[in-house]
Amino acid sequence: MPNTRTEKVDPLEIDTVGLLAKPRRRCHAPLALSCALNAVFAISLVMVLGTDWFPEVDRSREQCGGHGMLYEGADECECFDCWSGPFCAEKLEGDACVVTANSGTPYIFEEYWVRHPEARTSILPSYHIGYGYRLPRLERAIRSLHKMVGNAEVDGREIVIGIGSTELISAAMYALSGELRDSSSTPTATASVWSQSPFYSGYKMPATFFDAKPFEWAVESHDAGDHGLRVPEATATRPVIELVTSPNNPDGHTREPAVSPGPHSRYVLDHAYLWPHFTAIPRTPTAHGNDTIALFTLSKMTGHASTRIGWAICSNPIHAAKLTQFINTVTFGSPRENQLRAIAALEHVNAHHGEIFTFARNLMLSRWQRLEEIFRGQSAYRLEPRETASYDSFSEAEGYEPSPAYAWVELVGGGDAAAAMAAAGITGRSGAEFGASPSFVRLELLMREETFGLLAEKLRAMLHP
Ligand SMILES: Cc1ncc(COP(=O)(O)O)c(C=O)c1O
Repeated sequence: MPNTRTEKVDPLEIDTVGLLAKPRRRCHAPLALSCALNAVFAISLVMVLGTDWFPEVDRSREQCGGHGMLYEGADECECFDCWSGPFCAEKLEGDACVVTANSGTPYIFEEYWVRHPEARTSILPSYHIGYGYRLPRLERAIRSLHKMVGNAEVDGREIVIGIGSTELISAAMYALSGELRDSSSTPTATASVWSQSPFYSGYKMPATFFDAKPFEWAVESHDAGDHGLRVPEATATRPVIELVTSPNNPDGHTREPAVSPGPHSRYVLDHAYLWPHFTAIPRTPTAHGNDTIALFTLSKMTGHASTRIGWAICSNPIHAAKLTQFINTVTFGSPRENQLRAIAALEHVNAHHGEIFTFARNLMLSRWQRLEEIFRGQSAYRLEPRETASYDSFSEAEGYEPSPAYAWVELVGGGDAAAAMAAAGITGRSGAEFGASPSFVRLELLMREETFGLLAEKLRAMLHP
């Protein structure tokens, strides 16, 4: 339960140890004696037992009345949706309360990490001032993680670290188109970058932004008018790089490549959501072939989106070399500080046998149950149904229901579904951004539990006036 105390503590009155230390509070006269005795007692304990004896406590929410976070280095609280003020004590009501459901910010994991401050990272100012970015310990933690979860074969494959999956998506287009050109009789052919609709909204931008000769975004040119449902044929003069998100963002479905395999087809399997909190893990780990680059990201796995760590699993060493070349050219590698935080998080996940998955899974499942109950019997809106339950090899549970990260909702009579949600105080992302009709809207379900409660309330008010 969030702490609802709205104590007025100046966020800047935190000592230099940071948010794990207690804020300084003033002692008033009647309390002075008790404060002094407490202080003497605490100092004696530290002298006898040392500081390591005291468990760390994360007070970053407590500073903001339980309705916001005071991040290390920040000047003021960052309030949760529908809370305002320097200490997040002011509740916004009615139209002033807008629920953000249009991003993929994984706040669902925040509570878990608040309970596990021991997985913190700290670095000395002398830490690795020079260039050089590879930390083999990160790769070891990633390999152990995949072996524990069973969601991808890592043996005999190379792992390339990037600044989030976002960097690796661009890098993969570069790597695959480069390899296609090198191995083709038509070395100047431009590869079509294609993804079946509805596709992740983050694919079109990198495919078009660079305006690169080796590849170009081809969804609209291949499929004018049918929202990317016509599958292109890969040829020597028009090779195809297909981006496959599985489970899919935005509709949660499991996906396989649609483009026929062959000498001119390559695949990016984006597995951002292939974790037990979203889907059942198959009996055998997916063994990606030589024509595929598989992508994973820390952001949807531990929630550490701002750490910007993603990784690619490559069977083909040429792909790994080209990915690395792209990353070295553009960013000179992922920052060591980020890798350290990723190591701390991943080693924690491994040591706790994936307890975080069970934590997030329980929340996601209960959200889906509440959502389905709200949409039940609705004729104006259609909630994309979840796939059928199956065996999950991670938990060894039969009948494991998927619990996707997003709800994909259709305004059945047509129209602008995102605008309809906005009118109800919910910001969703329009279907048009996913190559689908604007009569669809994607609602994110990764928010904090308190915010999900507000989303459910607003949906209920809209659908059951
Ligand atoms: C399918 C998919 N791929 C990649 C990303 C980007 O991941 P990262 O945070 O690692 O850049 C996202 C983020 O929402 C996503 O949904």
